[in-house]
Amino acid sequence: MELPSKIFIDGGDPAETHEADELLKKAGFLTGVTGQTTNPSLIAKRFARESGIMNQESGKPKVSSENLIDYYKKTVQEISRIIPEGAISIQVIGDPATLTTEDMLTQARDRMSWIPNGVVKFPATTAGLAAAEVFCQEGPVNITLTFSQEQAAAVYVATKAHNYDVYVSPFVGRMDDRGENGMDVVANITSMYRYIEVMKRPKVLTASVRTVAHILYALWLKSDVITIPFKLLKQWENEGFPIPPKDFIYDAPGLAEIPYHELSLDVDWHEFDLTHDLTDIGLKKFWEDWKVIIQ
Ligand code: G3P
Repeated sequence: MELPSKIFIDGGDPAETHEADELLKKAGFLTGVTGQTTNPSLIAKRFARESGIMNQESGKPKVSSENLIDYYKKTVQEISRIIPEGAISIQVIGDPATLTTEDMLTQARDRMSWIPNGVVKFPATTAGLAAAEVFCQEGPVNITLTFSQEQAAAVYVATKAHNYDVYVSPFVGRMDDRGENGMDVVANITSMYRYIEVMKRPKVLTASVRTVAHILYALWLKSDVITIPFKLLKQWENEGFPIPPKDFIYDAPGLAEIPYHELSLDVDWHEFDLTHDLTDIGLKKFWEDWKVIIQ
């Protein structure tokens, strides 16, 4: 059976990617796992677990930044061998207070040399979109930490001249966590992009999914991609891999609605309001999780 959305795995463990791929194929989903998303927190945490670097109380430096980047590289290389046709997102990393567009571009070009099927993840910030605007002519990009329709509008406009795939990743669970209906953002972006030719618009990648209901609604909305943590994929399997009926209704009790806005996409992308506190918080957290491991 062909699902309306591609299924990516959200994680940093090649063994999970392998098992997830087998599991989906065994369940009769033709394409199996067609991609992977990674992020600095997932990679740093796995590195810490594997190498026993958990005792941070000493405050002593543990590994060099190069070592951790090298571990990131080896991890995605392993994943790339498991899903050679997959799209594997690799994120740019740095202190959000100082990371420039130029730094991101340098990192992006390096990451693209790691594997043939890489996708570079840039944040939904002004500096991140400026980097994506340039880099989308050199390789695929994924705009991460997206929390608003305005950010997604800017992603479309900034990457109009793309030569490779462009993904935009609304983080639904993190909005739910604070009482806002994150899936509304996916619905709003999908709706906003509906009249744009498929090849010309960013692919909507539903991320930060926490529940089977998120998966079902994302499938119902025909989100291009859903990235699912392995544990949740197992839960979906345990429930018999349900798919949404035509009259599916997503019930989000207690979550505040995020209304749709009519936005003109015929403007310079700098005119959109890119600010979102969850983007800032997310970037800070990625950096904190990463730097706690390094010297
Ligand atoms: O794909 C995005 C994901 O890695 C973030 O998920 O659970 O940290 O909000 P989460």
